[in-house]
Amino acid sequence: MGKFLSKTLRACLESADEIFRDNGIRNSRLEVEVLFCAALRIKRLNLYIDEINLGDNRFNIINEWIKRRLAGEPLAYIVGSAVFYGLEFKVDKGVLIPRAETELLVEKVLNIIKDSELSKPVIADIGTGCGNIAISLTKWLSSCKMIATDISGLALKVAGENAKRYGFEGRITFLKGDLFKPLEGFKEQIDIIVSNPPYVSTCELNKLQREVREEPLLALAGGRNGLLFYRKIIKEAHLFLKPLGFLVLELGKGRLKGVNEMLSSAGQYKKTGILKDYSGIDRIIVCQKIK
Ligand SMILES: C[S@@+](CC[C@H](N)C(=O)[O-])C[C@H]1O[C@@H](n2cnc3c(N)ncnc32)[C@H](O)[C@@H]1O
Repeated sequence: MGKFLSKTLRACLESADEIFRDNGIRNSRLEVEVLFCAALRIKRLNLYIDEINLGDNRFNIINEWIKRRLAGEPLAYIVGSAVFYGLEFKVDKGVLIPRAETELLVEKVLNIIKDSELSKPVIADIGTGCGNIAISLTKWLSSCKMIATDISGLALKVAGENAKRYGFEGRITFLKGDLFKPLEGFKEQIDIIVSNPPYVSTCELNKLQREVREEPLLALAGGRNGLLFYRKIIKEAHLFLKPLGFLVLELGKGRLKGVNEMLSSAGQYKKTGILKDYSGIDRIIVCQKIK
């Protein structure tokens, strides 16, 4: 931190970038830009247009945030937000930070709805976290009925705030409880069940990157082999889906085989597609309730 001495914006940016790089932070420049924009409450372009001197207050905040980042705290928790599917979401330590690959899940659900010409789809997002999936879908579907559940009260509080920010508090029903428990009144009434469940195995938990270990265990831990939530969801989802309704799940790396086996032995679904993410990992599985 010794190099971070000047108070002009451009010099601070350069020093912070160097400090991040020296400390092995990938995408250092992007992280520095996001951090400065949040601290100064300016847009990215303005970082390079205006040459300003940072006042003591902002300078101290930036220094403090840099220290927290170097100590391993994820950037999204420090700045209090993350971007997902083009929208900004409030995040805090009570919720998982939305991941880019989960955007594929949103994309897929939108395509299913378009292809099947569902005019007023009923959708349930199980384990909504900060509400990123439910809110993104609600933004693009003018007449859906969205139900979003989570077992975590902390997550539901953040999701509710995010929904309010986008004016969707009246369009999304948030329910607290264990998986399908809050959906008892929705048997055979849902067109699409979507979920990005916790899928990190017990053994993988110990090897997670330092940043990921800061995220809630409740959002990560998927049992001994990372398949616990898939088993539970596959066992019950068909009871809540309408005939020919869809179950769309995000997959953890290496989970496809186990999930395929569960779907086959459940005997309630036909598999309709698997999507790879940009790293070539089988990331999304889509199946349809048989009847
Ligand atoms: C991997 S995170 C997904 C968060 C968000 N949907 C996303 O895609 O970024 C899993 C979420 O499931 C929630 N969860 C964990 N166990 C649950 C359970 N038994 N019932 C409902 N939700 C649960 C966690 O609190 C967490 O918000």
